[in-house]
Amino acid sequence: MERRTIGAAALEVGAIGLGCMPMHWAYTASQQSGEGALRTVHAALDAGASLLDTADMYGPFTNELLVGRALRERRAEAFISTKCGLLVGDQHIVANGRPGYVKRACDASLRRLQTDVIDLYQLHRPDPEVPVEETWGAMAELVSAGKVRALGWCAIGARARRGYGAGGGMYDATIRQLERVQQVFPVSCVQAELSVWSREALDRLVPWCSSRGVGVLAAMPLGNGFLSGTLTPGQGFEPEDVRARHPRFTAEMMAANQPIVAGLRRVAARHDATAAQVALAWVLAQGRHVVPVPGTKKADWAVQNAAAAGLRLTTEDFAEIAALPKALGSWD
Ligand SMILES: NC(=O)c1ccc[n+]([C@@H]2O[C@H](COP(=O)([O-])OP(=O)(O)OC[C@H]3O[C@@H](n4cnc5c(N)ncnc54)[C@H](OP(=O)(O)O)[C@@H]3O)[C@@H](O)[C@H]2O)c1
Repeated sequence: MERRTIGAAALEVGAIGLGCMPMHWAYTASQQSGEGALRTVHAALDAGASLLDTADMYGPFTNELLVGRALRERRAEAFISTKCGLLVGDQHIVANGRPGYVKRACDASLRRLQTDVIDLYQLHRPDPEVPVEETWGAMAELVSAGKVRALGWCAIGARARRGYGAGGGMYDATIRQLERVQQVFPVSCVQAELSVWSREALDRLVPWCSSRGVGVLAAMPLGNGFLSGTLTPGQGFEPEDVRARHPRFTAEMMAANQPIVAGLRRVAARHDATAAQVALAWVLAQGRHVVPVPGTKKADWAVQNAAAAGLRLTTEDFAEIAALPKALGSWD
């Protein structure tokens, strides 16, 4: 697989990674464990997808345990990207960016991941109660201590896009926060939603990263599975599945957004590829500093997704995708 270099620390990874989240979070209440999950991680590594994206809160904790188990004999082939700063409570998820907490969270992640060093340690969400410089300073100390190689920032969700009521354009508030933490320690990577049906990050955030040598981890590059064309309008989702509450996944919106899938399928047919692979190739083409992390529980899909790194879209393909209708249904 093509390799890409991300961020200030010049980290080299396979151009397409594996999002491990669906195995234990967001899509399912059943905790995938055992051989199926291990097979998926190993299939991704075999296909050259070195970057494995996880977080302490996925499960919680079981996703990191899985990655640790999967890498027991394959640590050198993998690039571990994990996150801290969100705690799963009985009722709510709360942010904790206090320095002491961040340091304890890192030690716990290292134990679960069965490793001496985390390649990329990301702040999952800034804690509104703690100045970002304090949280970031504690994370920088983890780099000095040799526990972490590089730091990343997650800019996911409506607040990251729109800010905390501060006004301004898409991702303006996030960019202001990034500029503050850059004074403390280099940001190697920013994780943001980026896909054919969620392109807001392309206006300012992705160019901001490019001009500063910061990598972009493209989260949800398959539009939570929609862009693969394998979901049917009206199919319904388990109550634990984020899509059960997602405005783009009502039967009406899924039907209304079918022209997007149809367009991806037309392009795919010209390349003997799948719609999912076209969606990933389009994300990859948004910059040499962009690494998509498609999530899946299934080994076959992990292999299919990794193979998208070899798909080269043509000018005609890009024009056709650019002309697709804007997605209907929004969190914002
Ligand atoms: N930092 C954050 O706050 C944040 C937030 C969201 C996501 N992320 C990261 O981004 C990663 C990707 O996001 P995501 O997993 O939510 O969304 P995604 O990659 O857009 O889509 C995942 C969904 O697509 C399905 N899928 C995957 N490959 C497929 C294929 N080839 N054909 C058909 N369906 C396919 C998966 O099904 P199965 O599950 O059945 O395999 C899963 O339901 C996550 O795993 C996580 O690492 C981070």
